[in-house]
Amino acid sequence: MNHTQSLPEPSPDALSHSEKLVSVIREEIQSAETQSISFRRYMEMALYQPKLGYYVAGSHKIGKHGDFITAPEISSLFSQCVANQCAQILQKVASGCGLSNGCILELGAGSGKMASDILLELEQQQQLPESYYILDLSPDLIKRQQDTIQKNAAHLFNKVEWITSLPQDFVGIVLGNEVLDAMPVDVFTQNGNDIYEHHVIWENEKLVEQLKPAKPKLREQVLDLKLNTEKPYTSEINPNINAWLKNLTESIEKGLILLIDYGYTKDEYYLPERNKGTLICHYQHLVNESPLFYPGLQDITANVDFTAVAEAADANGLQVAGFTSQLHFLTNTGLENYFLKKLESKNENIKEYQYQLAQQVRTLSLPSEMGERFKCIALSKGLDESNTQLLGFENFDQRFRL
Ligand SMILES: C[S@@+](CC[C@H](N)C(=O)[O-])C[C@H]1O[C@@H](n2cnc3c(N)ncnc32)[C@H](O)[C@@H]1O
Repeated sequence: MNHTQSLPEPSPDALSHSEKLVSVIREEIQSAETQSISFRRYMEMALYQPKLGYYVAGSHKIGKHGDFITAPEISSLFSQCVANQCAQILQKVASGCGLSNGCILELGAGSGKMASDILLELEQQQQLPESYYILDLSPDLIKRQQDTIQKNAAHLFNKVEWITSLPQDFVGIVLGNEVLDAMPVDVFTQNGNDIYEHHVIWENEKLVEQLKPAKPKLREQVLDLKLNTEKPYTSEINPNINAWLKNLTESIEKGLILLIDYGYTKDEYYLPERNKGTLICHYQHLVNESPLFYPGLQDITANVDFTAVAEAADANGLQVAGFTSQLHFLTNTGLENYFLKKLESKNENIKEYQYQLAQQVRTLSLPSEMGERFKCIALSKGLDESNTQLLGFENFDQRFRL
């Protein structure tokens, strides 16, 4: 991924799409009493405004021809490992609930690649879930998921059900790969005792960022971080994690939530030297730090504070059942075995295939690639925690770091 401050010029159609979204944002700014909207509201509109937001409207987004690439797109080895973790838990959660097997609920399923690879692996293990639910906010991606599953696992298509709200009395596993990083965040700057919230205003015919004194709730959250910095310090807070996990917890009767994303523990997130925060944007595989560029055409994302996730889990009565790096999660769930199995199944062009697979393993697991930057956290409800050593966290469980 390349970092840049200048972006390729979008096509005329794409530009006109972005201009439509800008005018909706401008209207909201101009009708606000303060003549501004918070950065979080801006990010929400840029990503999820009905018919216009980045994730909602019809651009390709994820994959080689999109703006960024995710682990399930890099290699099906990733999803096979996740499936192996699911297999360990599916039957366990079903026992005592009158079900032969639990269900899977995938949040934000992207292209549908992970769903189809997980279903195929669980079929191999004779551990198919009762149902594989997908909940996504993007109508465009839902269509793409349906096409992918039809293409890769047509015989399992009837296992998949797209839902628009959380199920009730869910028994099974909830999966979210790179979902938390796509949630809108508050951006703040602390300068000594002064704490500001980033807003977006309309000035000189364009969107501009402006700092305003932080509202009491945000001020309190920032003060709780006890930032140790002499220079102005800018970063983000996701204030929705608690409400989001509360809803999820209420919909689960018994099960495990497995979230995989890039991020840090709180101590690392708010290190003094990370004084510009972690918010970045992706546009055609270029990284930039200008979220006001081309709203609707580029992804805006912030790293995840996993300590905040664990604290919200705790507040909602979930157990933090495991926390480790993607490298260790994949190693624990059988990355090497899956690699060898794939290699054995190939009869021709073995050298070339081996090279490709090895490249995929490197990208997924090397500490300098996704291996350490990406973390996995498991949150459980109603499992017999003392008797359940989760496969993915068997070695190098790092809950102590949270
Ligand atoms: C960065 S993409 C990741 C897609 C996919 N999981 C992958 O790994 O390729 C983020 C996805 O999360 C979805 N999303 C964001 N917030 C969500 C929420 N609250 N519930 C469900 N999906 C959400 C977006 O619509 C988008 O599909």
